[in-house]
Amino acid sequence: MGIKPLSREEIKKMTVACRIAADTLTYLDKYVKAGITTQEIDDLANDFMQTRGAKSACLGYHGYPKYTCTSVNEVVCHGVPDSTVLKDGDIINVDVTSFIDGFFGDTSKMYMIGNVSDEHRDLVETAMMARDKGIEAITPNGYTGDIGFETNKYVTRKGYTTVKEIGGHGVGRIFHEEPFVPSFGKKGKGDRLVPFHCITVEPMVNQGTEEVVEYNIHGSSVKYYHTADGLWSAQFEHTVLVTDTGYEILTLP
Ligand code: MF3
Ligand code: CO
Ligand code: CO
Repeated sequence: MGIKPLSREEIKKMTVACRIAADTLTYLDKYVKAGITTQEIDDLANDFMQTRGAKSACLGYHGYPKYTCTSVNEVVCHGVPDSTVLKDGDIINVDVTSFIDGFFGDTSKMYMIGNVSDEHRDLVETAMMARDKGIEAITPNGYTGDIGFETNKYVTRKGYTTVKEIGGHGVGRIFHEEPFVPSFGKKGKGDRLVPFHCITVEPMVNQGTEEVVEYNIHGSSVKYYHTADGLWSAQFEHTVLVTDTGYEILTLP
């Protein structure tokens, strides 16, 4: 397998990249309200990352045209910032990936706009818990299937579904690397986790069907996705360092 553990120095750099990405999401808290456009959110995130000496990893990534991904309501992921105005009751995932000193830090969270319905609040809460259940399943030399199993178990018990074709990934000197981290699976199956390598855990949780519809982004090979039934979707993402005793979450707020 091609996964190499990070050195102590590399872990320090990874920690810095992840700190900036996490702080960007926190910085956005006071701005992501009814009336703002997703384009304005994108610019704010870019300004913040620049102030901290980092660049957005998204801009130019396989031709992706913006600094962040902003996925509103039925958009599952990779929503492209534009003139869309957020309104009362919306839910939005903002996904930030910073790049600094050779390393990538990747994290996303949901923001709830004004009065969000109880059903959508529950969806958002479930997505956050699903991510955390997945992370808690990480053990040194465990398997990606351990993470997916716990994630999917939690989500399906709540009556929701997990998206199967998109998921987490290795991250470090490369934005997206091995292993694929599914939001479903079997304990002890999938790829081996490697101590002192980083992965993301980022389950996409759908209210209704797990099926998604793929759309092209002009000028890019990155796709964005909607739920196939138009019901809403939620996602939270952390970058996590697998250690020799367990794990450390590098993108805590
Ligand atoms: N940050 C996303 C992830 O969690 C990837 C975005 S790629 C982009 O993996 F090109 F759409 F920005
Ligand atoms: Co990611
Ligand atoms: Co991300």
